[in-house]
Formats: sequence, structure tokens, C-alpha cells
Amino acid sequence: MAFALSRFVRAKPVDLARRTCFSRLERFDVDHFKAVCSSVITTRAEVEKYNRDWLNAVEGSSACVLRPASTSEVSRILAYCNERSLAVVPQGGNTGLVGGSVPLFDEVVLSMERMRKTISIDPRSGVARFEAGAILEKANEELAEQNLLFPLDLGAKGSCHIGGNISTNAGGLRLLRYGNLHGSVVGLEFVLADGTVVDCLSQNKKDNTGVDLKQLMIGAEGILGVITKAAVHCAPLPGGKNVLLVGVDTYEDCVDLFRAARAELGEILSAFEFFDSRCVRLSAENLSLEPPEFLSGKFGVLIETSGANAEHDQEKLDGFLANAAARSDRLDGSVAAGASQQAAFWAFRERLAEALMHDGFCYKYDVSVPNVEDIYKVVGLTDERMKGVSGIKRIVGYGHMGDGNLHLNVTSAEFSQSIVQALEPWLWETVKGLGGSISAEHGVGSFKAGALHYSKSAEAISMMRALKNLMDPKGILNPYKVLPPEG
Ligand code: FAD
Ligand code: MLT
Ligand code: ZN
Repeated sequence: MAFALSRFVRAKPVDLARRTCFSRLERFDVDHFKAVCSSVITTRAEVEKYNRDWLNAVEGSSACVLRPASTSEVSRILAYCNERSLAVVPQGGNTGLVGGSVPLFDEVVLSMERMRKTISIDPRSGVARFEAGAILEKANEELAEQNLLFPLDLGAKGSCHIGGNISTNAGGLRLLRYGNLHGSVVGLEFVLADGTVVDCLSQNKKDNTGVDLKQLMIGAEGILGVITKAAVHCAPLPGGKNVLLVGVDTYEDCVDLFRAARAELGEILSAFEFFDSRCVRLSAENLSLEPPEFLSGKFGVLIETSGANAEHDQEKLDGFLANAAARSDRLDGSVAAGASQQAAFWAFRERLAEALMHDGFCYKYDVSVPNVEDIYKVVGLTDERMKGVSGIKRIVGYGHMGDGNLHLNVTSAEFSQSIVQALEPWLWETVKGLGGSISAEHGVGSFKAGALHYSKSAEAISMMRALKNLMDPKGILNPYKVLPPEG
């Protein structure tokens, strides 16, 4: 079949932009897919959205999207692709932010969107099982009916899939409370590149029988296998929630407040997020979100508490606020009155990714550092670095303070290779110098595959490669992603 050359909106390192020798899709391949998969899309207009990522940074040229409805369909598709050496991109909700969920060339897209059922919810154990394509927000609504809560929340919840969340080991807004998915995913079913179905869908919270294979799939970004089902240990739905939005003068004030919140709110602290004053301006300019007076020109801090006993939480929060006021006269903010104001407060933080997209193009970075004091240094250093680089609209910083995770974002009206060149590898070196990671939660995808060595040793990378060769010897699953090009 004819295929067009990929159009890279965001240029990638040259060595990644070389198509490996996979087979080209032929008419008879599509005929075979139609026999083993209940939904096959090949019309250009329908395929388009599966080729382009959320950031509008990468566009592939796949001519075929497969939308299986069961594990056995996934298995038959992969067995065939492996036999024929056809490259495959597993795709969830396509909200990934590292160019990992779309083809770079003509890879076949394996969309999990039709495997979206909640299989079971056990209110006694708190373990729920989902098909990989279950949408996070929808799953959470069903869990709430059983007084349960999915242990992950993020701005893309309306579109992202649980399988995609697990494949990226997404962190999100409440990691400081519920930990990461390596802890809460108790079982997985996944399909290897050759079509072998591996059943590790245990529902036991503890299971030390041999090597924990499911952990390999969590955060593997679709390069080792395709997740088809997941069992997740969910949390009890909190009885009460408070959301507090505060404006402070400096980043050091954010750190002081964080330390106090950890010490004084303890187990009821469920989120601690920060954003700089440029973010406040960004939300006003691009989303028309009118900031409360106390945020004007300030760093914003969003603190959420949740627990089983609303009265007890309130008492603790009152104590925290009284202590904060006694400690400093710089604290200025408000506790949301009711659910709709809570959502309005959250919007200042949760909608920043969306707001940035209105500038045109967004260079999105997601780094972590071991010491919370160092997070915002990266923004200051970036300001210095980018002085004199033309075309920049803004540089902003926000993030998950409790996780040492900074989202550094630079925008311009249009994509500019010279902005990327000014940022990379300089940023990777800077983060490494601070002892941090070049990817805190978004993953590696295609954007950072060539930079993996800044965060992983040569031995670790070669072990990853050995695992890839073992589980996907022909390399058909999500090629060009995560691992650096060989040699
Ligand atoms: P996709 O984007 O479709 O895929 C992501 C990767 O997983 C790809 O490499 C893909 O090949 C692979 N994959 C998908 N499904 C499967 C499967 N079933 N089996 C094997 N591999 C698979 N991330 C955070 O960590 N924290 C945040 O707070 C956060 N907030 C976000 C807010 C917004 C507005 C947006 C757009 C994104 C945000 N993200 C965040 C990015 C995040 O990675 C995703 O939103 C989410 O986890 C990806 O899920 P998805 O279903 O969209 O996966
Ligand atoms: C967030 O925390 O808002 C997400 O990770 C998305 C982003 O980095 O913009
Ligand atoms: Zn984030």
C-alpha cells in the first residue's frame, strides 16, 4: 500500500528519524486484519487523529488503525504483525506528552479504545478490574458508587485510559497521598509481541510468588507488550475534602508552607501543588480565568486535604491556618466554600497544560530533583539560558511539589528548532547536575529516547535492551521510543 513520508512537526534527533526495516503494509495485511479484528479503520480522514499527538508535536503517517474488542483479538493481531514484521504503536487515550503514543512513520496503530469495560469492583477488598481502554474519569464515577476512589487523578482524566496510565506510570495530582501505580496495580494481563497472553491478573494485594512480571509493564510505554486488563487496589472514597488556595511571595515561601503542611496536616494532606506568577497570568490571558486578588503577582499554592472524618479534617486545617498566620504575615488565600469553588480553585492548576497550548507551540519538560528546595532553580537557570533566543513567548514553572516534580514549559507561536537546540541537551545536563531525572512522570517516548543516558547508566540501558530483545525480539512494539538508537 502507498504511504506518505511522516511529517515531523517537532523535529527529532536525526538518528531517530530513520525508518527501520519493517515490512510495509500491503492490501492483504488489511484483509487479514479484517478477519481477526472487529474494527479496522483505513480511511485517511478517520485515521488522522490517531497519527497526531496531544501536543501537536508529532505526526505519523499510519494508514491503518486496529481497534480490537478483546484480548484474543489483540493476541491474533500481534501474532500476525510479528510474523510479518509490521511495526505497531499501542495507543490509549493519546494524551501522552512525550511523542510516544503515535506512529513516527507508518506503524500500525493498535488503539485500545474499544476495550473499555469495568470488569468488576469488589467493595470489600477495594480491588477493581478494568479492561485497558477504560477511561479514568468514567472508571472513577463507577468506583464512587461503591465508595471507592481510583488512586490516580490527572488533568487528562476525561480521555486517558487506565492502560495508558499504567503504561506511563502516570503520577498526577495525588501521588503524595496514594503513591505510584507500581504500588496500587495488583495484577495485569498483557500480550507479548508474538501474541502470547501473559495472565498476571492477580487480585491479591500481596503476592510474592516469584518475579513480579507485571512491574516490567508499568511505565514501559508499550515497548514490551500490550496491557489488556488491570486489577487496581482502590482507596476508600474520602468523607470530606477541603481545598485551599494561597498566594505567596517567593518559591522559598512555597517550600516553607509545604514543610508545615506535611508536618501539621499529616495523613489528611492529599495534594500540594504550586505554580508561579507567570502561570497566573497565563490562565488569565489564555483561559480568561480571573485570579483572586491574593494570587496577583504571586506564586500560587494549592493544598487539598481529604479524610474519613470531615470534622476532624476541619480541626486540623484550622490549626494549620492559625499556625501559618502566626508564623508569617505573608500568607494570603482562601479555603474554597463548596464543591464548585473547589473545582474553580483546582482549575488554576489543572488547566495549565491546556492554557499553554493556546500560545501556539509548547516545549514541555517534566523533571524531578531530590531536594524540593532545588525545583524552581531550574526555571531561573532556564530564564538565563534563553535570554536572547528569539521567538519565545513565555517560560513558566509549576508542578507536584510533594514529588519534587517540576513542569517547565516554554512556548512560542510556532515550532522552532533553535529553541529546542538552546534547551537540549543543556537542560538534561543541568538536571543531571542537580541529581535529578529528565522524566519525572510523563515518560521518555520519542522526545527523550536519545537522552536516556542522562538518567540511566549504560548497564541499566543495556539491561533494558536485553529485556526488549527477550520480550519483542523483532522490535515491532513501539519502535523508536524509550530506548536510544543502537550504536
Ligand atoms: P497514550 O497517550 O495513548 O499512550 C501513552 C504511552 O503508553 C504510549 O507509549 C503508548 O504506546 C502506551 N500505551 C497506551 N496504552 C497502552 C496499553 N494498553 N498497553 C501498552 N502500552 C500502552 N501524566 C502524569 O503522569 N501526570 C499528570 O498529572 C498528567 N497530566 C496530564 C494532563 C493533561 C491535560 C494531559 C494531556 C496529559 C497529562 N499527563 C499526565 C500525561 C499522561 O502520560 C497521560 O495523560 C496518561 O497517563 C496517558 O494515558 P493515555 O491513555 O492517553 O495513553
Ligand atoms: C500536569 O501536572 O499538569 C501534567 O503533568 C501536564 C503538564 O505537565 O502540563
Ligand atoms: Zn504533572
